[in-house]
Amino acid sequence: MKPFTAIACAACLAIAAGVGTATFFFGGVFSVAASERDPALVNWALVHVREASITRHATDQPPMSLDDASVVQGGAQAYASLGCQSCHGGLGVKPARFSQGLNPQPNLKAVIEDITPPELFWVLKNGIKMTGMPSFGTGKDPVPDAELWSVTAFLKRVPSLSSDDLAKWTAAHHG
Ligand code: HEC
Repeated sequence: MKPFTAIACAACLAIAAGVGTATFFFGGVFSVAASERDPALVNWALVHVREASITRHATDQPPMSLDDASVVQGGAQAYASLGCQSCHGGLGVKPARFSQGLNPQPNLKAVIEDITPPELFWVLKNGIKMTGMPSFGTGKDPVPDAELWSVTAFLKRVPSLSSDDLAKWTAAHHG
C-alpha cells in the first residue's frame, strides 16, 4: 500500500469510528434507563474514577475530636434530620420506596469501614455526580462543616457501636 493510501485509510477508519460513536450516543442507542444495569466495564470504570477522585480531593482534616461522645451523638441526630435514612436506611428506619430504584444502589455499609474520615466528610459536603448522592455543602443553606464532621464521626463509629447504644439513640429520635 502506498503511504498516501494508508493515511487515507486510517483517516476513513477514524471518521467511521467517530460517526459510529456519535450515532451510539447522540442517536439515542445508548440507554440512560436507571432500571438497566450498567455494563460491567462501565461500572468498574465509574467506581474506580470515583474512588481516585475522592482520595485526591479529600484533604480537609477534622477541626474537632471525632471520638467525643457528644459529637458522635449529634452526628446520629444530623444523620436522621438530613434525610440520609431515606436512601441509606439505618437507626431503625427503612430506606424510602424510591431508593429501590436508585442506580447505583446506595450501599453505605459496604464502604464505611474502609473510607477515611476526610473522604467521608468530602463526600457529604460535595456529593457524588451520577449516583444520586447529593451534596450537603452547597445550595442556599449549606449544612455547616461542623455538622458534616459530626455525621462523619457518627458513621465511623457505627461498626463498633453496641446494639444497645443504637437502640437508645433510635428511641431518642423517634420521640
Ligand atoms: C437521594 C438518595 C441519597 C441521600 C438522601 C443520601 N445518599 Fe449517600 N449515597 C447515595 C447513593 C446513590 C450513593 C452512591 C452509591 C454507590 O455507588 O456506592 C451514595 C453514596 C454515599 C457515600 C459514599 C459511598 C462510597 O461509595 O464512597 C456516603 C459516605 C454516603 N452516601 C453517606 C450519606 C449520608 C451521611 C447522607 C445524609 C447526610 C446521605 N448519604 C444521603 C444516595 C443518597
